Amino acid sequence: MRALGVGDMDGLVPWATDLARSLLSEPCPSRWEHVRGAASQATLAGKLFTPVDADLLVASAVLHDIGYAPSLACTGFHPLDGAVYLEAAGAPPRLCALVAHHSYAYLEAELRGMTASLARWTDEMTPVRDALWWADMTTTPKGQATNVLDRIEEIQKRYGPDNLVAFFVRQAAPELIAAVERTEARFRTASIDVR
Ligand SMILES: [Fe+2]
Repeated sequence: MRALGVGDMDGLVPWATDLARSLLSEPCPSRWEHVRGAASQATLAGKLFTPVDADLLVASAVLHDIGYAPSLACTGFHPLDGAVYLEAAGAPPRLCALVAHHSYAYLEAELRGMTASLARWTDEMTPVRDALWWADMTTTPKGQATNVLDRIEEIQKRYGPDNLVAFFVRQAAPELIAAVERTEARFRTASIDVR
């Protein structure tokens, strides 16, 4: 895997895609399908943003779940493991922060007692961050487009009622839905049809 050069934003999406493929496609084929689908959604949402922000969004979408890769999983909390790995790989700080805080990871960090570790990065709370949450929350585990309510229900069913992730997603639902709704309102304002 080539290193990402400082200021090498032109090559960010190919670099991110190659990295995600190398980490996920063989050990975690379903995660690879999911992040490819999320990247497709992010590409659609990229129409809302400048080319630099659109590339950042797509790169963060394809990388957001690399923390599940067995070769880098360390704490077992995938947003943190992914951000730590990306920082060491020379990824731009905004990309690391978007991955660290994707889909309200801060709340899950609280539940896991990992708030201090995640606080190394700041949730930028921008439309780009909302669009990343939208891309994740509108993509099924197999990479198909879905809606946020079905996605939240699917996560709870997949993990089971007593699982921490299922509890987290129930508590996170209002913030997740709000980020999705803000993004979809931005699509309507910009006359962007994503379906
Ligand atoms: Fe995801």
